[in-house]
Formats: sequence, C-alpha cells, structure tokens
Amino acid sequence: MNAQAIRQAYLSFFIKQNHKKIKRTKLIPDNDASTLFTGSGMQPLIAYLLGEVHPDGNRLTDSQTCLRAQDIEEVGDNRHTTFFEMLGNWSLGDYFKKQQIPWLFEFLTEVIKLDPNKLYISCYQGNQQLGIDRDNESAEIWRQLFTQKAIKAEIKQIGSESDGYDKGMLPNERIFFYDGQKNWWSRNGAEATTPVGDPCGPDSEVFYLFDNIKHDKKWGEKCHPNCDCGRFIEIANSVFMSYKRTDAGFEPLKKPNVDFGGGLERLAMAVNNDPDVFKISLLQPIITKLEQLSNKSYETNSQSMRVIADHLRAATFLAVDGVRPSNKAQGYVMRRLVRRAIRFAFDLGIEQNFLNNVLPVITDIYSNDFPEVHEAKDEVIEVLIKEEKVFRQTLRNGIKELRKMAYLADGTHAKIVPPQKEPIPIEPYNLQIDGRAIFKLYDTYGFPVELALEEATLQGIRVADYWQDDFNKLMEEQKKRSQTATKGVFKGGLAGDSLIHKKYHTATHLMYQALRQVLGDHVVQRGSNITNERLRFDFSHHQKMTEKEIKLVEEIVNQQIDNNLKVSYKEYPTKEALSLGALGQFGDRYGETVKVYKMIAKNASKPFSFEICGGPHVDQTAQLSEGGKRFKIIKEEASSAGVRRIKAVLI
Ligand code: ALA
Repeated sequence: MNAQAIRQAYLSFFIKQNHKKIKRTKLIPDNDASTLFTGSGMQPLIAYLLGEVHPDGNRLTDSQTCLRAQDIEEVGDNRHTTFFEMLGNWSLGDYFKKQQIPWLFEFLTEVIKLDPNKLYISCYQGNQQLGIDRDNESAEIWRQLFTQKAIKAEIKQIGSESDGYDKGMLPNERIFFYDGQKNWWSRNGAEATTPVGDPCGPDSEVFYLFDNIKHDKKWGEKCHPNCDCGRFIEIANSVFMSYKRTDAGFEPLKKPNVDFGGGLERLAMAVNNDPDVFKISLLQPIITKLEQLSNKSYETNSQSMRVIADHLRAATFLAVDGVRPSNKAQGYVMRRLVRRAIRFAFDLGIEQNFLNNVLPVITDIYSNDFPEVHEAKDEVIEVLIKEEKVFRQTLRNGIKELRKMAYLADGTHAKIVPPQKEPIPIEPYNLQIDGRAIFKLYDTYGFPVELALEEATLQGIRVADYWQDDFNKLMEEQKKRSQTATKGVFKGGLAGDSLIHKKYHTATHLMYQALRQVLGDHVVQRGSNITNERLRFDFSHHQKMTEKEIKLVEEIVNQQIDNNLKVSYKEYPTKEALSLGALGQFGDRYGETVKVYKMIAKNASKPFSFEICGGPHVDQTAQLSEGGKRFKIIKEEASSAGVRRIKAVLI
C-alpha cells in the first residue's frame, strides 16, 4: 500500500464508523495569530474541542497538511520533514477510549497490515500534584488487544524524565507509562506549559520498531519507545482531551474528546518497513527526478536530495495556500525553504534553474487527492520559478565575491581558484575570510550570513575565529549611519527594523540571565547575533539542554517581559562595573569606562539583569510582548566544543 492508498483507506475506515470527512484547512491559520503555521490536525478544531457545536457533527475525520518550520535545519536525516500530513479522527464529546483504541488497532493491523509484533505503546503515568490519575484504562485495553493476537504485552512504568527514561526493556514489555513530558498533549507540550485556555489531556502513542537499526548510545544508555535514536518511530497518537487549562489549574471538560493524529508519511514508512521517509510514494518521485537531473545517486547524495525534496514540497503547498516569498513571517519561511533547496542543489552540481523540472513532479503527486493543488499548479510554479531567478543571481554574485575576498592566512592575497565541485581541503590553500567579508556579502549582495558560512566551509575557506565580533561592529556602525542618514530617505523600513533589533537585543539580556539561573554560573556568553527574525546566542555549557530546561528559560523570560522591567543604562569605570557584578563577555578588551544596562522591576531592590553592553535596548520589557508576542526558543544545538547555540524568536 502506498501513502495515497493509506490515506484513502484511513478516511474510508472512519467514514464507515460514521465520521464525516472534513476538508484540510490551509497551512496558514485563518483566525489564529498565535502561530505562523498549522502544526497539527487539532489546531483548526480548538473551539469545537472546547464545546462549540461543529456543523458536521461530533465524529470527524480528515488529512490535515501541517508545517513545522522549527524543524528546517533537522531535515537531511532519514525521518525529519518540515511538511507532513496528519491523519485525524475526532470524537467531539462522543466516543472515548473503548472505541478509539480498538479501532486504531484494527486499522493498523488489519487495514494497513502492520505486524503487531512491531508495535509498542506508551500511556500517561498520571500526576499526583494535579490529581490526575495514571491511564490504566488505556493500558489495559491495549494489553487485551495484543493478547487477542497471541502477543504477551507486559506493562512497564518507565518513569519520569528526571529519573532518566532509559532503564531498558525486557522482551515481553510492550506498554510503557511515561510522564507528561511525553504523554500529555497540548499545543505547547507538557502539563505545566499548556497554554491557558487550551484543551489538553493525557495521550497514548503507538511506536513502530525498525528492528534492523542498532541503538545509538548517544541518546541514552538503553533504547526504549521514546528514545530518539531512530529504532522506534511514533506513528500514531490518541489524545484523550479531557481538560481545559485555566489560570488555577485544569478544569475537566463537560464532555471529553478524542483527538487522534497519525503522521501519514510515518505510517507509510512503517508499511514499507523502511526507516527512510524519503522512500515513500509522496517523496520518492521527487528524489528520482533529482537523480535524473544531477546524474547522481540518492545513496551517495542523500542529505542534499532530502533537503531539496522536503523544502520544495513545503514551498509548493505554501504557494498553493496563498503565501508568497517575502522578508516577513510566513513569506520569509517560504523564501528560506526555496533558497536552501537551491543552495543544496549546488552540491548536486545543479547550478542552473531546475525548479521548472521538479515542481510539476510535486504537483502531480498531489493533484488527484487535493484539487486545489491541481487548480493552482501553473501559478505556483510561476511564483517559485521567479524566486529561483532572483536568488540565483544573488548567489552567483555572492559566491564570486566570497572567493575574491578570501586571503591567505598570513594576510597576503590569495590566488583566485575557480569554484570547485567538491569541497577543497583547507590545507594547502589555507584561504581565510573574516567578519568584514561576511558583512560585505550580507550588506552589499544580500547574501544570508548562514549561507556565507556554509559556502565558505564548502569551498575550503576558513572563517576567521573572531569574525562575529567584526561583523557585529560593522552592523552597529551601519545602524548608526542609517539612523543619522538624511531623514526621510531611509525612514520607514529601517525605523521598524531597528525597533525589532532592539527588542531582540533586550530579549538576549533576559535570556542570558535566565540561562544562568537555570543552568548555573558557568554560562558565559560566547557570541550573539541578531536579525529581524530571531536572536542567536552562543554560550559555554557542556550538555544539550533538556526540554524542561528550555521550557523553564522560556518561562522566566516571558515572566520578566510580563513584569515590565524598566531598562536603563549608566556609565561606570570598568573595574567598578565588574566589581558590582555586571555580566560581560569580552574579558579584558574593555576601555576605561563601560556602559551597563540594568533591567529592574518596579519596587524591586535588585535588578534582574545587569550587563555591560553598548545597547540600544527598548525602554520597558513589556514592549517585547506587543501584538501578543511571546518569547520562544526554536533551536538549541552544539556550536563548537563546550559551546551551545540557541535561536529564539518573539512570536
Ligand atoms: N494533536 C495530536 C498530535 O498532534 C494528535 O500529536
């Protein structure tokens, strides 16, 4: 069964159980400014899950297209995609666990014929503090279903994140209780972080075991269903949505709901019994096309081909849903997807326009099942091809310039080598560029900083260690120049830009302090970079941050935004500033006096943040939440040995 057939079989199965099929909603939520994209099947149905009557009844089913932009940089392995379809069935205050779980089991094992021996289950372990019980009922229903298939399914308490989940599994263990980090569903994760006003509840997930994959200890001592090593993949999630989060806690809903979500792509992977999502029928034709165009094989070029296939599929659906490339919000994400796809095509040796060859393959895959894709086809292709032309010119100019600006590490100018197909080893060329070069590419050629860094690495050009300091300095200078530039000429755009820069700058101070509170005083700033879209912050810390730590940092920052701290600065002799405990990051590179920014709550005796910095900042932290925005960490990753990197947004 291919993915299209699985989608059809799923919808028919639930229509047979008296569900009404509803149409997908667009990737851009209509009346919900709280998120950029539709990220799950339940998002368009929140009002109905809270009790409003749905015109199509209380049993619904669909396949909802979703986009998770926070995963852009994860794409390239065998399982991450930004765009996916979520198969859904809903009980709006109608049936509950006793129907949902057996139906799901029947669908998985009888309709799409997954081997039940490869299915593993997780359930919610309960939360005493909240007075919410362990979900023994679901576990027992699952156990009986496996027993009917002559599979012994023992139930295991696997614990909470703080105990460490990876205690290991015994041969007959199949049903596992996890804490709310894993088995509580809300639009924002676990119990404590559930948004006030949102529906939420315990969930029960199904995992498929790819038993030919070996556990990787990088992810923990022993493997278990929720391990991230790739042996187990979550393919289905039944949320038993029984609560509404209020300021005081969790209020039981009058009628509990079922919100089921199953990733179509992942179900298709399980049916293929192949852990590579790019082998399924919704992605494979794109890969085949890329193999033809590049004359290279997927086996040896999988990462680039995966990025291109994923990003162009996502951009196609964004275009179908009316988004156009721009420098703002959804348009910016779309632009980034297209530009990354083009950039990765260079790795395949595809340096000419190629979207006109690939896009029709994508629209063909979906035209039968989504008539709107068929209808918008010509326009979509035109929009994306136009974006390709614009960017290709930028890229060409930038890459040429990058090589011209490289110099030998001893400071003398390099002999220009023509662009190479394969990365050049750093020795014997020993080329280098610095922050000035990266700034020039950015400022004059519109070359994105991330791409400049990636491009340099690919061409065997070293990036000078302190490039970021120079880059930031030049950015600062440029900002000052533009602020004093003839009034009227640059106004508007730039004024807006500098306010958002200020906001991110202030958010950076709040986050730095929050990181030290959560992780400890060893956290020291190692770098910072702000664009109109996000802040980026490098700091010393030796482990990956846990989900809990990330949530906590977000909560502290949002709390300080809500506390509306007053932001002000004063000049101090450097020594005095440091003896007063001002945070700084440049060691002994300060002059005689420094500017110290203070962020303090009304009537508080101690500032929350006290940091050496040139500014500029907003005047009051509540400005960061203007337009209902919240602070959110979208990425936490290693930057270099002992240094972590965070990207965060006000969204
Ligand atoms: N809303 C649930 C999810 O997205 C089904 O996983």
